Amino acid sequence: MSGLRMAVLVSGGGTNLQSVIDAVEAGTLTSQIVCVISNKETAYGLERARKHQIPAHFINPKEEGYDDKLFALLQGEKVDLIVLAGYLKILSPSLIQAYKKKIINIHPSLLPKFGGKGFYGIHVHEAVLAAGEKESGATVHFVDEGVDTGEIIIQRKVSVEAEDTAESLQFRILEQLEHKILVEAIKKLEGSN
Ligand code: GRF
Repeated sequence: MSGLRMAVLVSGGGTNLQSVIDAVEAGTLTSQIVCVISNKETAYGLERARKHQIPAHFINPKEEGYDDKLFALLQGEKVDLIVLAGYLKILSPSLIQAYKKKIINIHPSLLPKFGGKGFYGIHVHEAVLAAGEKESGATVHFVDEGVDTGEIIIQRKVSVEAEDTAESLQFRILEQLEHKILVEAIKKLEGSN
């Protein structure tokens, strides 16, 4: 099957983006990243894109027309898969409708647990520890109109250890699970394309 034209949306460091870049360069994925887009000018993910000659775009969320600019970019690049990789802005309902089953998100918990408004970054792992969970994990899912509610594509678990801090759990889930299942999920979608 031919590869997908992906846009990766980031708001931060972009280690998940890096795992996709690496998988594309290694030939593990047949898809290509046609652009990286961020709502944060200083997001290191944009820098990672530039280092790999991938067009990197900042769209200023404080200016009018954010959603229109984002939509125009995606259309212009003929994007057929949008990957939210640590993207902390809610997409507009019209964009979600236009790209039904073509937007995926990575979330650092065993959804539907610890998902939804307020569950992002370190807060997810703090809540997991506070609830005394024995296991946590990561999920790649399709994006629908809800927050972290779309159909699950891949989910994988890790044990929560007695000595875990929110930071150690965050790091382990990122390194051991997220970077792998994000690539696996894209591969799965390439197969069904
Ligand atoms: C990841 O934990 C991801 O699941 C969440 O935000 C974090 C982004 O990390 N949505 P990075 O920017 O990919 O390093």
